[in-house]
Amino acid sequence: MQSSAAFASWISAMPKAELHVHLDGTLRPSRLLDRAAKHGFDIPYRSVEDVTDAYAFENLQSFLDLYYMGTSVIRDEEDFYLLMLDYLSACRDQHITHTEIMIEPQSYLPSGVSLATMMSGFKQAMAEAQAGWGQSVLLILSLLRHLPERDGLEVLEQAHRACPDGFVAIGLASSELGHPPADFTELYARARSLGYRATAHAGEEGPAGFVADSLDLLGVERIDHGVRSAEDPALLARLSREGIPLTVCPLSNVKLKVFDSMANHNLLQLLAAGVRVTVNSDDPTYFGGFLNENFIALHEHLRLTAEQAARINRHAFEASFLPAPARAEKLAELDRYLLAHARP
Ligand code: HPA
Ligand code: ZN
Repeated sequence: MQSSAAFASWISAMPKAELHVHLDGTLRPSRLLDRAAKHGFDIPYRSVEDVTDAYAFENLQSFLDLYYMGTSVIRDEEDFYLLMLDYLSACRDQHITHTEIMIEPQSYLPSGVSLATMMSGFKQAMAEAQAGWGQSVLLILSLLRHLPERDGLEVLEQAHRACPDGFVAIGLASSELGHPPADFTELYARARSLGYRATAHAGEEGPAGFVADSLDLLGVERIDHGVRSAEDPALLARLSREGIPLTVCPLSNVKLKVFDSMANHNLLQLLAAGVRVTVNSDDPTYFGGFLNENFIALHEHLRLTAEQAARINRHAFEASFLPAPARAEKLAELDRYLLAHARP
């Protein structure tokens, strides 16, 4: 077998963890069309090709405009159930045995969709996936930084009241430029006082300083993206020293022009600097690949080795918000796979 094909089958069958994926970013074009038809919504696409042709982005904002349009076709409990089940079925196919999914209620609440409707659909799909193939899932309450902190605080209180065990952590997504971490200190202090773990997008389009501020002002335990940390050697040394995980999303970074090509992505530099890098898909149906495709692109364009891929995947289980016994079990499962399957 050719080395690339051998790598692809080895990484595809490996039990993996994903820590950075937006549920709304897993909406399949066919599902977008069938939900729009169901609700009688007029959307500017007639076919799957029309939808995928529209997925050419200039930057984060041009993507977000389409991404939020996609959420407008998801309205009732069945829609939320199918959205979650579609992604969890992809996890089964991709051997993503544990996933931590960002849920963004602020995309739905203004249209009158309740949190109870969303959660009821999600929980049904999660229970099926758990019973069907042992899928492990945690949910992250991802708040939108283009909206005021007060709005995020209200959603947090509402989620905490309505489903106190529903979310393990909070996150912060959407347009980074103009919405610095300093604007969300109260939100994070409140979430942490309620017992939530914490993560935030930083250093994707925003500067390295947003990564440091997310750690210092928000108290996050891991950073979503964080690739621009490489612009500050002192910060890079700190991330390495403190073992702060970065949830890097290679295909996303190329699609949104954070890097002009995969060959110029800095993931290997981050890894070489001792940073706990993980690989993730972010918005897989928009960016041309789920988790396996991200690893395969790194292998093809950056010569990511099997040893590095295994190390990255170990970081992901270690950096997960699972309780320690479940985390240890997942790591043992990974070790069994690595022992039983020779590295390509
Ligand atoms: N960055 C910020 N917000 C997002 C992203 C992203 O890459 N994907 C979905 N929401
Ligand atoms: Zn993201």
